[in-house]
Amino acid sequence: MSDIFETVRLTLQAIESATPDTSDALEQFRIQYLGTKGEIKALMEEMRTIPNERKKEFGQLINALKQGAEEKYQHLKAIQDALAENAAAAQFDLTAPGEPLALGSRHPVAVTLNRIVDIFTRIGFSVADGPEIEDDWHNFTSMNTPEDHPARDMQDTFYVVDAPGMLLRTHTSPVQARVMENRKPPIRIIAPGRVYRNETISTRSHCQFHQVEGLYIDEGVSFADLKQTLLYFAQEMFGAPKIRLRPSFFPFTEPSAEMDIWLGTDTEKNYRLTKGTGWLEILGCGMVDPQVLENCGIDATKYSGFAFGMGIERQTLRLYEIGDIRLVFENDVRFLRQFSAAL
Ligand code: DAH
Repeated sequence: MSDIFETVRLTLQAIESATPDTSDALEQFRIQYLGTKGEIKALMEEMRTIPNERKKEFGQLINALKQGAEEKYQHLKAIQDALAENAAAAQFDLTAPGEPLALGSRHPVAVTLNRIVDIFTRIGFSVADGPEIEDDWHNFTSMNTPEDHPARDMQDTFYVVDAPGMLLRTHTSPVQARVMENRKPPIRIIAPGRVYRNETISTRSHCQFHQVEGLYIDEGVSFADLKQTLLYFAQEMFGAPKIRLRPSFFPFTEPSAEMDIWLGTDTEKNYRLTKGTGWLEILGCGMVDPQVLENCGIDATKYSGFAFGMGIERQTLRLYEIGDIRLVFENDVRFLRQFSAAL
């Protein structure tokens, strides 16, 4: 029996002299003395073997033992936790430079658009804007395409179910009407923007793309002005030496034309692009139909003007020699990054 008291004393000594200086060693210490299968628990179970008159003494010793082990454990644990926290904090170098943010780049379609805007602003055109959710009047009727006009079939679009007569604009031409309704000539604007078509028939076509519209209204504006303006554009944009105007039809212009630029057939690429003709179609244009002027509150006996409209995506493919139009819609950063230098 005196052995048991001796064991308690030795255990107390062992606890006092223990130096568990790693978290593993400390955990080991906890398990060894304070665990449910630990030494203190085992000693407590010896209580039944102790004669009654010494039970109290034994109980007090065990309690002291337990308290000593508990305190030592808590104390060392607090120190180790603080050290670990400091070590983690030390890994944060507050003076280190931050993670660099990836810089975006302009989309090639935006680059092309900006070039076009730049070319026309140099000769006195300013940029005008209009809504993408447009009403029937501006998108169709004012542009001389009344309901049941066959030309509407070519521009099916998306309609707003809850707002009859509202639709996603099929071209940038409605900006013409909006500008004419609100300003007096002379008017010289270009209107870049997004347009929409319901072209589900072909998997190669896209429901959303970009156009730039142009409009010039003043006294005495003639077809010669149109031709010279477009020649200037073709030279600046494509370095084309000459243009060709082919008769065409648009409801809002009379006469109407299609403009081609001369690329020639010297290179295989140009031969392929122009289908062997040397000419590449770029845009639609014409003299603004007097009916359109009147629709928009402009005196057609006093003023005349020209208009033009072009798609941006195909020009972008040509300028950057992009082989597949889907690339400009998918916005894969591996593709877009290649244009970071082109502003
Ligand atoms: N709005 C026409 C289209 O989307 C393009 C166009 C042709 C615009 C002739 C014009 C123009 O202003 O005069 O197909």
